[in-house]
Amino acid sequence: MKSYPPPKEFVATARIKHSALEKLRKEGIRSPVEFWERQAEHLLWKKRWTKAFVRKHPHVQWFVGGTLNAAENCLDRHVTTWRKTKAALIWEGEPGEIRTLTYGQLHSEVCRCANVLTELGVKKGDVVAIYMGMVPEAVIAMLACARIGATHNVVFGGFSADALRERVIDSGAVCVITQDAAYRRGDTVLLKSAVDEALSKVKSVKNVIVYKRTTLSTPMKKGRDVWWHDVMCTASIVHKAPALPSEHPLFILYTSGSTGKPKGILHTTGGYLVQTTWTAQNVFDLRDDDIYFCTADIGWVTGHSYIVYGPLSNGATIVMYEGAPNWPKADRFWDMIERHRVTIFYTAPTAIRAFMKWGDQWPKAHDLTSLRLLGTVGEPINPEVWKWYHDVIGKERCPIVDTWWQTETGAIMIAPIPGATTTVPGTATQPLPGILADVVHKDGTSCKANEAGLLVIKHPWPSIARTVYGNDERYRQAYWSEFPPDKRSGRDGWYFTGDGARRDADGNIWIIGRVDDVVNVSGHRLGTAEVESALVAHPAIAEAAVVARPHEIKGQALVAFVTLKSSAKNVQLEDLREALRKRVADNIGHIAKPDEIRFAEALPKTRSGKIMRRLLRELVTAGTISGDTTTLEDLSVIESLKGNDEE
Ligand code: WTA
Repeated sequence: MKSYPPPKEFVATARIKHSALEKLRKEGIRSPVEFWERQAEHLLWKKRWTKAFVRKHPHVQWFVGGTLNAAENCLDRHVTTWRKTKAALIWEGEPGEIRTLTYGQLHSEVCRCANVLTELGVKKGDVVAIYMGMVPEAVIAMLACARIGATHNVVFGGFSADALRERVIDSGAVCVITQDAAYRRGDTVLLKSAVDEALSKVKSVKNVIVYKRTTLSTPMKKGRDVWWHDVMCTASIVHKAPALPSEHPLFILYTSGSTGKPKGILHTTGGYLVQTTWTAQNVFDLRDDDIYFCTADIGWVTGHSYIVYGPLSNGATIVMYEGAPNWPKADRFWDMIERHRVTIFYTAPTAIRAFMKWGDQWPKAHDLTSLRLLGTVGEPINPEVWKWYHDVIGKERCPIVDTWWQTETGAIMIAPIPGATTTVPGTATQPLPGILADVVHKDGTSCKANEAGLLVIKHPWPSIARTVYGNDERYRQAYWSEFPPDKRSGRDGWYFTGDGARRDADGNIWIIGRVDDVVNVSGHRLGTAEVESALVAHPAIAEAAVVARPHEIKGQALVAFVTLKSSAKNVQLEDLREALRKRVADNIGHIAKPDEIRFAEALPKTRSGKIMRRLLRELVTAGTISGDTTTLEDLSVIESLKGNDEE
């Protein structure tokens, strides 16, 4: 397959060139802890750590004894330099308005918001839920929480009221920051009313702060709700950032796992900031004159690490966009890149597949020569799509960094260093320095070249998730039970990613996909079990099994197989289909609605009664079953499922 060495012009000014990368890799392998300690030197610490790494399986701590403040690292240390007047954030609303906040202005707003939160009684260690669209106030709210040591819990604005309630209750949030409504594809998404619905029976939340984005009228609950503009305008812009321990909880972010209940992934301060800062700087080769545009939503980990903490800690200029990529037309991103002279563009393969489908005429109508680096995240990128991105968007000049990482890893783990790595379409290439990744068999032995196996990380890294909030056991089970510490071989526990992969003869890692029941729809991570729970909660449904099939744009699409209760045999199937889709949207959000719902007489089960999702997966992918059916209880079930194609 064709490979792409870094372009000469790029290498000329690159932060890390080939020989430097080799040296860093060696250092990282010799001692990952010392490697990361050296990177930690670049942050502003109030007190230096005494021990860089402490491990008590399955828990780890980094930079123990050190204190710092994440917001101070992202703001105050720039405000004391020429960057005070540099643009930190260029924001564009969907209807077209543009706001620019300098580091000085962003700092003032964050200080104000920190004072507001304190005034409302939010204290260090409290959890604050943030349920907002893509507005600068979401960034301000996150950094204000970080500043006072409150732990933010950002809930994606596309999640439903039920999903929000579950996340507020599980995290014990005391305050919710939201907005009246958000603009999306020319329409409004009502966020505050979803908050009202979510909080109807929640006791922990004392206050809701509401940012007014639209002209819609919004009911406010007396004694609980306050307007953002009312409280912010009287708050002081002076706020002293307290010193927080390196292991102080910075945020909780819920993500899908293989059971029905989402996991509250907990990240802490020092290690997370060290690794997001280093990776943002070096994977994106960030320089002061860059205009960096990451299209992720703030509600996902990419928004946390590569809109907020990583870039701002580096003093970069970020572009943030509120709305849909095809509003008002399919060239919105290209138009923005041209107008803002964007130099670095970071997006998801699912988005690139959509751009391809919309047609080359849209990017071709714009001057994209400001771009110098492209990035992707969230799912494997097919080589043809990579090539299109490279040729049509990057005009064959821009390196592409395909970045592999997870909510749990906090920061990029496997990716090219753009001025040093020869890239090959479809692989995120090699682990970054300080990251000891391997592809192994179930017994822990390393796979040979091109052999498929499980992707593991053999040494903990600074931004690793510290636990599943309130559930250490689930943390151990989900990430450490596959390769636990083993006294006989002397193996420390290895982190299991949940991904299958293979490593080629050049050492490049190719992600095959998840080996658990987690699927990736349009770059959004979903647990099939969550969708099944939503379906089974419907009174007409006896059983449900949800699997994914490949989809041209979304990457994967959900297919639900459901069986009806005998009491429901007379229902109208079309009405029921709609009702089931709505139920999933209400329980989780629109992103989780199955593309297809198939009604079945029975689901294929093993003799011990387990649903054989593997067979269903095969059925929806290949249209037939060729795999092993020896444990199947009743073979006729498969025949009847085949004939049940809808639409
Ligand atoms: C997948 C997103 C291939 C992978 C930051 C992982 C990828 C899951 C890539 C995490 C990539 C992410 N190539 N697959 N470059 N990046 N993935 O937690 O399956 O939303 O386990 O984090 O996305 O998804 P999450």
